Amino acid sequence: MTFTRLLVTVGAALATSQLVSAAVATHGVKCPTGQTTANKACCALFPIIETLQTKLFDNAECGEEAHSALRLSFHDAIGFSIHGGKGGGADGSILAFNKTETAFHANSGIDDIIDAQWPVFQEVGTLSAGDFVHLAAAVGITNCPGAPSLEFFLGRPPPRAAAPDLTVPEPTDSVTAILTRFADAGFNPNEVIALLSSHTIAAADEVDPSIPGTPFDSTVGTFDSQVFLEVLLKGTLFPGKNESHPGEVLSPIEGEMRLQSDFALSQDPRTACLWQDMINNQNRMVTQFKAAMAKLQVLGQNKAKLIDCSDVIPQAAPFKGPIKYPATFSKAQVQQACHASPFPKLATVAGPAPTLPPVPPS
Ligand code: HEM
Repeated sequence: MTFTRLLVTVGAALATSQLVSAAVATHGVKCPTGQTTANKACCALFPIIETLQTKLFDNAECGEEAHSALRLSFHDAIGFSIHGGKGGGADGSILAFNKTETAFHANSGIDDIIDAQWPVFQEVGTLSAGDFVHLAAAVGITNCPGAPSLEFFLGRPPPRAAAPDLTVPEPTDSVTAILTRFADAGFNPNEVIALLSSHTIAAADEVDPSIPGTPFDSTVGTFDSQVFLEVLLKGTLFPGKNESHPGEVLSPIEGEMRLQSDFALSQDPRTACLWQDMINNQNRMVTQFKAAMAKLQVLGQNKAKLIDCSDVIPQAAPFKGPIKYPATFSKAQVQQACHASPFPKLATVAGPAPTLPPVPPS
């Protein structure tokens, strides 16, 4: 970390402790900005959310920054072990010690969102790196219709050190390796699949760097359960030049990227039914995702010392389901790996087989 960055981090820590000490439990306060929140200390977040929406998320778009801010919060938090000996968890170390953590292979491409967040983090000035990273993720996803309003707790102290390497799962990892790593961080297989709902608003820049922004499903701007369906459709091609890359397996749709890890989890007996049960089950998906994110975003933190500011998080537009098979697809292409529950009945989008456009860089 450079000296300037150290100063900023220390400054943010002081400011955060001022915020926390101002947190006299005042309920239902009206903030100077006109909004209401349960705790006076949370008032400071309303203008910060405005700043995030205008300066980071291109006027409240569910675009690349919103997607990447969610990925960043995961890569920050997962550097933790319930057995100790790893990083500080959801502490913002990935932002504050970015020179170290962006060099890890699993963080490939994450430098783009760090570069976008850093100046806004400095401009805001009053949040610790951990509060900033996890607030940005919560705010960003509300730009995607269907997303839940995540919990947000304020007051994480500044990170003490970078997380060590090899804590973030890779798409080339086996299901056993993935479940073992998540278990080490405190998550069961049910929570792992719930967290992977995030891949409904995801695209890859680095798996095949010749086709940046390649989405994981046909509705990358919507927080729906489409990704759980499309990962099960029989793969026939690799997007782009039809060449395979590490971490990628055959995808069913031109312009769509399928991660090897997502496919393996959809087929494994330990997770196949959890995967299938998400399909067209928006309520189950967002409820479980929200619960798992609530745990992820305070990993390694003393939650009793944080202030519950969840009521400042905006509400996303609703998702108007049901989901559908992409045009030309049907149950005939589903590689069903769970037979314990019936496969949902879904209609098919009309028209010719789609070619998905990439998510534009901002
Ligand atoms: C088995 C665990 C996981 C693996 C192996 C994995 C792997 C990946 C990979 C390879 C990418 C594409 C990166 C690139 O090429 O640019 C990606 C994107 C993404 N991941 Fe995951 N991921 C996992 C779990 C998660 C979790 C738990 C979350 C959030 C809670 C998450 C959120 C995202 C998001 C939002 C993106 C899209 C970022 C963007 O579009 O800019 N992932 N993931």
